[in-house]
Amino acid sequence: MEESSLPKAPRSDVARCVDTTPTTTPTPTNHTAPILRDHPTTPESDTPYLTETKIFIDEDEAMNTILLVYGTTEGHTATVADRMAEVLRAENHDVTMKSLAQEDVDAISDYDAVVIASSIHAGQPHATVKAFVQTHRDALNGRPTAYVQVSLSTADPRPEKQAEAQAYADQFLQEMKWTPTHIALFGGALPFTRYGFFKRRLMRALAKKPFGITDTARDYDFTDWDQVKQFAGSFAADVKTAHAPGLSLRDRSLRDR
Ligand SMILES: Cc1cc2nc3c(=O)[nH]c(=O)nc-3n(C[C@H](O)[C@H](O)[C@H](O)COP(=O)(O)O)c2cc1C
Repeated sequence: MEESSLPKAPRSDVARCVDTTPTTTPTPTNHTAPILRDHPTTPESDTPYLTETKIFIDEDEAMNTILLVYGTTEGHTATVADRMAEVLRAENHDVTMKSLAQEDVDAISDYDAVVIASSIHAGQPHATVKAFVQTHRDALNGRPTAYVQVSLSTADPRPEKQAEAQAYADQFLQEMKWTPTHIALFGGALPFTRYGFFKRRLMRALAKKPFGITDTARDYDFTDWDQVKQFAGSFAADVKTAHAPGLSLRDRSLRDR
């Protein structure tokens, strides 16, 4: 579905994204970083000293491999994944995108980073996403990862619905024992023209109060596409930094202070 062809929801603040990285977004190409040098002392003291060191990352060499997998029921999360892939590729990353319902993923060890996107139906992420996270949990926890949740609750302005969307994500991640470095909650869509009779009636009843929707002859798109692009851009930059040559984890934590 091309979102530009769809009528927009009456609200604009329909998506939230959360970067769980406890730092500010780094500049991707030129980092000024305080590095704890190997020299153990300065002439004046016996303690290690900090000095400013510039680290240049060559854009051509900064390409990383990113696996982007998704679970979708009506196709909207596939569009979100597509849009994220465009941004990641524009940032010079090598992106492999797979629908988990259609393609198998044997191992993720070849990838520098992984993005997992899922829609919510009946309060749950897609079954294929659950199975994927369960299978690859240990490898996921050892690299930069993003969890992208697409739901109607995030598009709903009522505080209890916002809390509900957050609870879906919290509960899922806790259950899976997966701690992504990045999390985004985006509003989803109501593609009435794709629904069968019963689903259309059900979704119309659910959407009437929060969104004032009565016309089911058209589709509605509640995703804030600027936020999707922004989130993908931020993840792209952080993956480059995480895999920058010569930056150890210790260097990074020092730089981020
Ligand atoms: C049958 C059905 C059940 C849904 N259940 C929920 C739900 O429990 N919570 C929620 O926030 N959104 C719910 N949604 C909204 C979807 O998350 C939203 O339509 C999303 O865009 C679907 O993405 P997909 O096309 O990638 O599956 C439901 C939608 C349908 C059709």
